[in-house]
Amino acid sequence: MDESSVTQKEDDVADKDVVVIFDTTLRDGEQSPGATLNVEEKLEIARQLSRLGVDICEAGFPIASQGDFDAVRRIAEEVGPLTEGRKSGQPMVIAGLARANETDIKRAYDAVKAAPRHRIHTFLATSDIHLQFKLKMDREECIDQVITAVTYAKTLCDDIEFSPEDAGRSDPDFLVQVLGEAIKAGATTLNIPDTVGYTTPEEFGGLIKYLIENTPNADKAVWSVHCHNDLGLATANTLAGVQNGARQMEVTLNGIGERAGNTSLEEVVMAIETRPQTYKVQTNIDTTQITRTSRMVSAYTGMVVQPNKAIVGANAFAHEAGIHQDGMLKNQQTYEIMRPETVGLSASKLVMGKHSGRHAFRVRLEEMGYDDLEEQELNAAFKRFKHLADKKKVVTDADIEAIIADEIYQPQEIWKLNHIQVSCGDHSMPTASVSLTGPDGKVYQDAALGTGPVDAVYEAVNRIVGVNNRLTEFMINAVTEGLDAIAETTIRIQPINDEAYGFNPQTNMPFSRTYSGHGASTDIVVASARAYISALNKMLAAQDEQSSEVSVTA
Ligand code: KIV
Ligand code: ZN
Repeated sequence: MDESSVTQKEDDVADKDVVVIFDTTLRDGEQSPGATLNVEEKLEIARQLSRLGVDICEAGFPIASQGDFDAVRRIAEEVGPLTEGRKSGQPMVIAGLARANETDIKRAYDAVKAAPRHRIHTFLATSDIHLQFKLKMDREECIDQVITAVTYAKTLCDDIEFSPEDAGRSDPDFLVQVLGEAIKAGATTLNIPDTVGYTTPEEFGGLIKYLIENTPNADKAVWSVHCHNDLGLATANTLAGVQNGARQMEVTLNGIGERAGNTSLEEVVMAIETRPQTYKVQTNIDTTQITRTSRMVSAYTGMVVQPNKAIVGANAFAHEAGIHQDGMLKNQQTYEIMRPETVGLSASKLVMGKHSGRHAFRVRLEEMGYDDLEEQELNAAFKRFKHLADKKKVVTDADIEAIIADEIYQPQEIWKLNHIQVSCGDHSMPTASVSLTGPDGKVYQDAALGTGPVDAVYEAVNRIVGVNNRLTEFMINAVTEGLDAIAETTIRIQPINDEAYGFNPQTNMPFSRTYSGHGASTDIVVASARAYISALNKMLAAQDEQSSEVSVTA
């Protein structure tokens, strides 16, 4: 059969509404345990979100800490004005989160105001359970606080979003009252969060319809949905919201976020792209940037994407079963509803090996979407590529991605790994010697015994660096198949005796800090050592930042 006669993607619909993408990877996403990002990483991700075409970037929660404030302010200043490559032609709106009180709102405004387009996002819980036990206020007091907060926010900026936290479990008629007052006080976006991921698609879609139909002046605001994934329904609930009139979706890359996470950007965007007849809306997202953004977020947060994750998982476009492979060879649409290129997975099967030069390597990187690397980053990646090509006959795109993540998506280098030497086996005590360059530029060496080679390396590093921490997670993955595959290691460490740092807006409790690190090498012990140094560098940089911080309490 002629391939073009098979229509997989639904035919497009003319004159579709735009549903705007509000990305909260840097705020709700960063609240995932262990996803701590430093300012430079947040800036890098924000730049990539701009390239991806995100309409509104919730850059953080400025009152939470000085570090959060600085990150939001720098994103507003440095990323806020960017328009290059954006489908909408407009720069991103930079939003800052604030509880419904003057101090939070002023702090959020001060952080975002440098962006040409900025927004204050304020929230107050409306469910009886939150009012009674968390806020200890009655419904009337809740409405008064919303009016006061939104009215104050409106004196600072035009673009105001209000969220009734735990809307999914709030009384719909009370929501109608609160939201009507929020519009009257000047809110321009009303966001309906299913904070605890409790609702079902029918219920949540019905709630959005009910609120839009019953709230006075509903047409004066954009209706938004913000779903959590506790029952695995975040994507379905968000899309149900859109089908019932929501025109803003709040999402994160890879679905990271509190507990089971938030709605994942890639899932809702690709559902809308692939099923235009069903959803009849469009987004401003450049879908070819999805894979790159997903990988960047995963590398910086240390939140590894499960292989079977829709759209961005390693197996999302892999066909293993013989029958499937046979079908794919006859016509790709037998088993594929989206082309991998649409999400930025390269189609090219160009083989790179030890004879490939710097030019070919650069061209390949550009084809893979890495067209903005600094000369020095390109040189470092090329050096790693050559080293790898000496060991491995064929260097695949996945290997190149691992090199980029290992070389480029790394924290500021305080300690640098020079080399390690290990001796191990089933008849000897594993021993490691390690050479590091310290922050003062001097070379330090030490050796240690361990229960295994990785433990021995970590002990030797600890003897040199001397910071107290505990290893809370250790993961190792082969990037490709075969014995010569690159291993990617992701680890998490927690400082011992850590001081509280910032607080979680939902629980009002201090965050417990975890730092992730990642490393890649064809040698798993080297990959593990790189990951450990990466996590230590992240932890040390955060401790430096914290000691120079004015502490903020709320
Ligand atoms: O889940 C939630 O309720 C939130 C609000 C702050 C919007 O993240
Ligand atoms: Zn949330």
